[in-house]
Amino acid sequence: MASGTIAEQPLVKTAAATARLLIIDDEPSIRESLETLLTLEGFDVTLAPDGPRGLEALSRDEFDLLLLDLALPGESGIDLLPRITTMHPQLPVIMITAFGTVGNVVDAIRAGAENFVQKPWDNEKLLADIRSAIARQKAEAEVIQLKRVLKQRYNFENIIGKSEPMLRLFDTVAQVAPSRSTVLIQGESGTGKELIAKAIHQNSPRRDRPFIPVNTGAIPSDLLESSLFGHVKGAFTSAINAKKGLFEVANGGTLFLDEIGTMSIDMQAKILRVLQDRRFMHLGGTSEIQVDVRIVAATNVNLQQAVKDGRFREDLFYRLNVICLELPPLRQRRQDIPLLCQHFLRFYAEENGTEAPSLTPEALRILMDYEWPGNVRELENAMERGVVLSTTRTITPDLLPAQLRGNTYTASLMDHRPDASLFDVMEDIERRIIADRLERCHWNQTEAAEFFKIPLSTLNQKIKRLNVEVRKRTRD
Ligand SMILES: Nc1ncnc2c1ncn2[C@@H]1O[C@H](COP(=O)(O)OP(=O)(O)OP(=O)(O)O)[C@@H](O)[C@H]1O
Ligand SMILES: [Mg+2]
Repeated sequence: MASGTIAEQPLVKTAAATARLLIIDDEPSIRESLETLLTLEGFDVTLAPDGPRGLEALSRDEFDLLLLDLALPGESGIDLLPRITTMHPQLPVIMITAFGTVGNVVDAIRAGAENFVQKPWDNEKLLADIRSAIARQKAEAEVIQLKRVLKQRYNFENIIGKSEPMLRLFDTVAQVAPSRSTVLIQGESGTGKELIAKAIHQNSPRRDRPFIPVNTGAIPSDLLESSLFGHVKGAFTSAINAKKGLFEVANGGTLFLDEIGTMSIDMQAKILRVLQDRRFMHLGGTSEIQVDVRIVAATNVNLQQAVKDGRFREDLFYRLNVICLELPPLRQRRQDIPLLCQHFLRFYAEENGTEAPSLTPEALRILMDYEWPGNVRELENAMERGVVLSTTRTITPDLLPAQLRGNTYTASLMDHRPDASLFDVMEDIERRIIADRLERCHWNQTEAAEFFKIPLSTLNQKIKRLNVEVRKRTRD
């Protein structure tokens, strides 16, 4: 188990501020103009006129990115590339090509080049490509290092997080996992409750015994009862054979009671009993069965509130709430967003047999600004979609789901509309907020007005003035 809190120690080294670029090109004029452009942009630039001197520079110093000419005299860029990528697998390489060498570029990309730039290049595009390649590489290195540390310290697989609240949570998980205590995990939908439940099991002495998840909220009461407790032959009409219950199946292991907050009141009473003494009877049975099961429960409803409202038994709440873990929503740990993106991009790229794409700075900014009502699951879906849709190795804002793009309410809006006044931009923001809410309310304007806490008449005026698209209600 970890000693001290992980939050006290830096998990990942912070990268140096200035990125170092190496340019290998035989044309002095190209080297010069690239050097001027990139130095002005704050990069630390090293130049090499041919392959041998380029390789020498690579073995001497560490670089963040290589710009490599495709048509070098002697050994060409395309010949050099496999050697470079073998020696420096993490180094992003952008090929510089002359017009009309598409075939070679495809070979270069296959051989591991990140991207290519065609002469004469567009400065803005080149800078954007360089920045996203470096950002992707940094994020990737950070995720690899973070995963290694999390694996070493906590034995966690595939859980990403370096924000304060997540690091505190990891510490608590590591502390409580080895015990037999019941754990209640609370958090919004998609925050990773099941992932944490599995991590608790994996880090407990029960790891070689079963981890059994049950969605207690989705199964009708009678069915849930027979699946949890099992039944004897003939207990009810369809009970042709005797069946073990999940409490028995999970014996020695962990039973994960998911969505416990929406379990019916009569089921709550039945569960309470077995949680008290780990004894129960098969449906229709006469003898008691004793099991050794660790309970981990999860809910996305506020159980304390449900107790107040009479929807959840207070005694059961106290039984479950021995150790309570709160999973913070993603919008309260935005630091984790770039790492999670990188993690999912790599995962889905591997699954699809492609190279992981990188996010352009604009795409990343949109992701950082979004509210993430669906939390990590929504982010994961957006990244999977991006991997599938991207035809180059970058994910631009247009490859993000529409609901994300409609929610960029930040100062960056001004950057994209240099001739607009502050009033225009504010109106634009208001229009987007209203349009987004109307869609989420299924075009029910009364509901939207209530949400905004403004009179319906005011909302109507705004809709007309701002020219917001309205549609027929799609739900009553
Ligand atoms: N910190 C994390 N690191 C990596 N992946 C994560 C993280 N948190 C969640 N995920 C991934 O996001 C998805 C949703 O997580 P999970 O199913 O555990 O959430 P949940 O809270 O149980 O959601 P729901 O309330 O909808 O059941 C899963 O694919 C999970 O692997
Ligand atoms: Mg879940």
